[in-house]
Amino acid sequence: MPESGKRGAKKSVLVVHGPNLNLLGQRETDVYGTDTLSDIDRQLSSLGAELGCEVETFQSNSEGDLVSRLQGAREEKDGVLINPAAYTHTSVAIRDAVLALGLPVVEVHLSNIHKREEFRHRSLLSDVVDGQVVGFGVDSYTLGLRALANLMARP
Ligand code: DQA
Repeated sequence: MPESGKRGAKKSVLVVHGPNLNLLGQRETDVYGTDTLSDIDRQLSSLGAELGCEVETFQSNSEGDLVSRLQGAREEKDGVLINPAAYTHTSVAIRDAVLALGLPVVEVHLSNIHKREEFRHRSLLSDVVDGQVVGFGVDSYTLGLRALANLMARP
């Protein structure tokens, strides 16, 4: 088994889910679909295995915990896939934590935030991440992980 993370051959990815995403499958299913967060995490782990990445997932409803987990990723991980959920539109702290990462970062959203209420159109992360995937439901995450794997493979 190749060693994971930073110095290992196998890449190590942190997937960060923001507030209320623990309620996926129960919450606004017309907008977010019926898959639960565990369903999404399972899909990401199995896709990660195909792509040669180890995937760790983390969800929190608390801004400070999200910032602390991102800080921890600086030394441990090779890339981050993040759905900051409502904090996308408000959190300078999460933006700053992403800026401090110095790693490839892909932002994802299940819904198309640009087709929704105006306050969701702005992401405080959009100009500090490598790219965004929005509007494809669970596919936003899987497409995002594929893009991240390609970014991490760059010399
Ligand atoms: C979301 C979009 C956000 O505006 C919202 O607050 C969420 C989920 C999405 O994945 O579509 O909680 O990030």
